[in-house]
Amino acid sequence: MNKKNLAIITGGTSGIGASITKLLKQNNFIAIANYMYNTAEAENFSKKNDIEIFKWDVSNFEECQKNVQIIEKKYNTTTSILINNAGITNDRMMHKMTIEEWESTIRVNLFSCFNMSRAVIQQMRNNEFGRIINISSVNALSGCVGQTNYSASKAGVIGFTKSLALESINKGITVNAIAPGYTDTAMTKKMPVEIIGKIKNLIPAKRLCNPKEIADTMLFLINAPAITGATINVNGGLYMQ
Ligand code: NAI
Repeated sequence: MNKKNLAIITGGTSGIGASITKLLKQNNFIAIANYMYNTAEAENFSKKNDIEIFKWDVSNFEECQKNVQIIEKKYNTTTSILINNAGITNDRMMHKMTIEEWESTIRVNLFSCFNMSRAVIQQMRNNEFGRIINISSVNALSGCVGQTNYSASKAGVIGFTKSLALESINKGITVNAIAPGYTDTAMTKKMPVEIIGKIKNLIPAKRLCNPKEIADTMLFLINAPAITGATINVNGGLYMQ
């Protein structure tokens, strides 16, 4: 594969996304990180790693189309690798969940996959090459108390992945998902310490995953032309519990 390929990583300046962006740059991809919140952190990441960052909301269809065009024009190439990583949680028990908490979670976690894939898929088909990797979650498979919105969005990501994989493999494009278990990032840092302690006890590996372990799986999938429509579990054995 020509490693001077353009890779766009949504939510690529923090946590799992930051690890993926850095690893792709180290592997000679043109790695571009999208982000939405915490501009200071994103700018710091950009400076420290010499990675270009672009701010837009991946739940917004028009913003995705516009920014992909801007990036492709700037680098005078089309996108070869799309990592749909941006995601949020808005946890609450169903009987207390608001429609806004439901809708924003589905929009950021699931609509984003459509919005971004729609922006790159035609060119990937024309080029007869592409890799799309979507970040799901162990909780899409197992369910989780307080996460009807999140689990539904991440289960939707798996169905989306399989259908787009079937549509695309004859054009040299693979589409896969990774379902991380609890991973040591800002998302888990905002959970109560005692809950994280209990979760660690439940995980057969007795620890959280680290973001680099998710990034390594990503690189493996990028280099695996015969793997498509798969959901790779990276969770220290949690799903088997
Ligand atoms: P994080 O909170 O560190 O990163 C999420 C990133 O998404 C941030 O950079 C944020 O700016 C970006 N983002 C959020 N809303 C956005 C929007 N509307 N437009 C553009 N960017 C937006 O979280 P983390 O843990 O690195 O999560 C990355 C992905 O991994 C998410 O999809 C998450 O659901 C998933 N995941 C995380 C797990 C964990 O335990 N940390 C476990 C399973 C899945």
